[in-house]
Amino acid sequence: MEITKVGIESIPCIQHIAKITWAIAYKEVISNDQIDYMLDKMYSSESIKNQIEVQGHQFILANFENKSVGFASFNIKQSIPEKIVKLHKIYIDPDQQGKGIGKSMLQFIMNEISLKGVNYLELNVNRENKAIGFYKKLGFNIIAEEDIPIGNGFFMNDYVMQISCL
Ligand SMILES: CC(C)(COP(=O)(O)OP(=O)(O)OC[C@H]1O[C@@H](n2cnc3c(N)ncnc32)[C@H](O)[C@@H]1OP(=O)(O)O)[C@@H](O)C(=O)NCCC(=O)NCCS
Repeated sequence: MEITKVGIESIPCIQHIAKITWAIAYKEVISNDQIDYMLDKMYSSESIKNQIEVQGHQFILANFENKSVGFASFNIKQSIPEKIVKLHKIYIDPDQQGKGIGKSMLQFIMNEISLKGVNYLELNVNRENKAIGFYKKLGFNIIAEEDIPIGNGFFMNDYVMQISCL
């Protein structure tokens, strides 16, 4: 398995993995209407291009047997008083979950940021998402709850989780 940093050339690949992953991961968590709304808002070509080129999100792709099987993205959220990197996305092809790919992607990100004086890696996760178990297994702790309005009457009902990078 190989993990590489990627740019806008990988947008179609990211969109494909997001589509097949979200349909399953959020089936019993949010409505189909909210899935469609969020995919459009966060994964349209224009939106991903903006995340990469304007907001400075770094995307990474995991490739296994010549196939892209997962992606993640992160960027610096704040530098003062503590340096925090935000993990925005991590999604593994449902056929490839449970094989250590998600863990390898997080380790890749930790390696990328550990030498840059980053205090915490932080993420938001839906409070009903099974991925909470994955994050806890890897050492993340819940530090807050957030209910974030995202338009059209939809909310993200999240936990904020952090892991120390020092
Ligand atoms: C959550 C996700 C990224 C984890 O990636 P993965 O490749 O399936 O997980 P891994 O195989 O790397 O698992 C690493 C460890 O976490 C454990 N783990 C994985 N999922 C778990 C879960 N839901 N609950 C508890 N432990 C879990 C594994 O058993 C493994 O433990 P080990 O190191 O002792 O063997 C992936 O399953 C996924 O894409 N899920 C759907 C999308 C999603 O919800 N993404 C997160 C959005 S916030």
